Amino acid sequence: MITIISGTNRPDCKTLKVAQIVEGILKQNGEECTLLNLQELPLDLFEGKSYGEKPEAFAPFQQAIFDAKGILTITPEYNGSFPGVLKYFIDMLKFPESLKEIPAGFIGLAAGEWGGLRPVEQIELVFQYRSAHIYGRRVFIKKIYEQMNTEGELTDPGLMERLEAMVLGFAAFSKGV
Ligand SMILES: Cc1cc2nc3c(=O)[nH]c(=O)nc-3n(C[C@H](O)[C@H](O)[C@H](O)COP(=O)(O)O)c2cc1C
Repeated sequence: MITIISGTNRPDCKTLKVAQIVEGILKQNGEECTLLNLQELPLDLFEGKSYGEKPEAFAPFQQAIFDAKGILTITPEYNGSFPGVLKYFIDMLKFPESLKEIPAGFIGLAAGEWGGLRPVEQIELVFQYRSAHIYGRRVFIKKIYEQMNTEGELTDPGLMERLEAMVLGFAAFSKGV
């Protein structure tokens, strides 16, 4: 089972739409997957006491990380990095077992020219610290407001091809193929 993380909680974010495209690619190809939407994190997770005891509503998020045979993270670029909520989500996961030796792949997107290269490279370091196995192929989606139509589709067929190749390549990587 591949767990997809939609890496921001911003309402109406493009990241969730890209995550749903990735989910569609996996499902169409018979791959089991689950999508974690950080917009749905329980609000009390953000209370300081959660560094100790987690709210019950966080349990399905933790379980989806434990059940994963691979984790595909979609991250937008916020201030030249990945969103704080994505780091906070990782900080809330059980240490050290949560990301240990898990195959991990990354897709970046941004309003700007660099397509999420910076957040992907920075979050890879966090996953590396947690002993994940980083998948070398990445996709960066630049100028997302030009590339995505009002239906939430990516309009460039070449980009869709690259995304599909990366996502299915990651699925094979997760199975050790
Ligand atoms: C707090 C914040 C910071 C941002 N910083 C950047 C940035 O550094 N570079 C960039 O290209 N776009 C930046 N953006 C624009 C996002 O890349 C853009 O909103 C894009 O749609 C992906 O984010 P989304 O999933 O929230 O929609 C920023 C957006 C927000 C909300």
